Amino acid sequence: MDFLKIHHTPKLSGSINISGAKNSALPILTATLLSKNPITISNLPNVADVNTLLKLLEILGASYQHIQNNQIHIDTSSVHETRANYDIVRKMRASILVLGPLLARFRHCEVSLPGGCAIGARPVDLHIKALEKMGAQIEIQHGYIVATAPQGLRGANIMFDKITVTGTENLLMAAALAKGKTKIINAAKEPEVVQLCEILKDAGVEIEGIGTSELEIQGSDGELLDMQDICVIADRIEAGTYLCAGAITNSSITLHHVIPHHLEAITDKLEEIGFGFEISQDSLTLLPATKRKAFELITTEYPGFPTDMQAQFMALALVCEGTSTIEERLFENRFMHVNELQRMGANITLKGHTATIIGEEELKGADVMATDLRASSALILAGLVAQDCTQIHRIYHLDRGYEGLEEKLRSLGASVQRLKEK
Ligand code: UD1
Repeated sequence: MDFLKIHHTPKLSGSINISGAKNSALPILTATLLSKNPITISNLPNVADVNTLLKLLEILGASYQHIQNNQIHIDTSSVHETRANYDIVRKMRASILVLGPLLARFRHCEVSLPGGCAIGARPVDLHIKALEKMGAQIEIQHGYIVATAPQGLRGANIMFDKITVTGTENLLMAAALAKGKTKIINAAKEPEVVQLCEILKDAGVEIEGIGTSELEIQGSDGELLDMQDICVIADRIEAGTYLCAGAITNSSITLHHVIPHHLEAITDKLEEIGFGFEISQDSLTLLPATKRKAFELITTEYPGFPTDMQAQFMALALVCEGTSTIEERLFENRFMHVNELQRMGANITLKGHTATIIGEEELKGADVMATDLRASSALILAGLVAQDCTQIHRIYHLDRGYEGLEEKLRSLGASVQRLKEK
């Protein structure tokens, strides 16, 4: 197993390219199950979660080749297997995204229930209920979701009780091949959901309401889609994480290949803290702050502040003047980084879903443990400003979602090494 060693780095500088969005790449890959023809996908991030999903698609019978870095050619016409095994699904919860497309295409499938998740219960009941409304019969047997729809799925009115990103994506893909019209009310509006809608639309599916919380999808009645080549959108969470690296060291750094408009909740919060920006069409330069003010933050669905950036902003609060508060509204147990930051001397108290962070305490390097993907990036940020050296263990969590992490950090001037645990 690898660990990361980070030395105190007072300033960063320079520029990096942001990779394709993991959370867009995953539904795009499962959407290829709906395609009648092979597809080229570019700007595909080389991260563990994407590779896990490619492995799952291969087990189902798909074939793919890397044409060049970050570009694959994938053919799902030979898919014959409809069982997504526990061994793969337990590695990545987002494997649940095969449920909608497999059921829509083959009229039956078995998908292992995702295991417990470090950031709370994260059930999939909303996915299941919505597919049942579309005519599926679903039972849980031996830890598997066993779904059948012998007559095919049919359009329905689906009202999600809670906004769910992968739930909306699963339903979109199921609805694309269903008979008749599906209406999704209280749909997620994240840019990754919008990209999936655009891809389905380019494949000939009529979709109304793209980017709103009400989507109407006219299904193809079982006919596979004529999908076009796809370029994955930029990863707003990766971009936000590097902006926080610039912010915690109060540096000027530039990010290329970003979609600034997707980053507004993040850049607005950084402006409130005291930073400035130079923004062009697809790049963003962070300008240092004269004073970094404490802030209040509440995580919500897009276009609100993303839960996937909560941990990084908590690290940033550690260097701000005054007391910041962060309220986590989406997941019940997404404060696992708090204990680890405390080991580095952070002054953070937790009450229910709210963390109170007292800034400007001196952080000291320590051995810390990555607990989930985004929590781990908060530890890197804290490591940049902590005295001496910080060692982050269990970094396989980081490898799930950050492409070329050390290379990118190093090209910004950070002193970071990947080493093997003894
Ligand atoms: C996606 C993102 C993840 C992000 C999250 C919230 C991907 C691959 N992952 O996760 O990075 O943190 O959105 O922006 O895109 N819920 C239920 N029942 C369900 C489904 C969800 O109760 O059937 C609850 C969840 O427990 C959570 C809330 O709804 O409290 C939102 O979760 P959801 O949007 O589904 O998260 P994911 O799609 O898993």
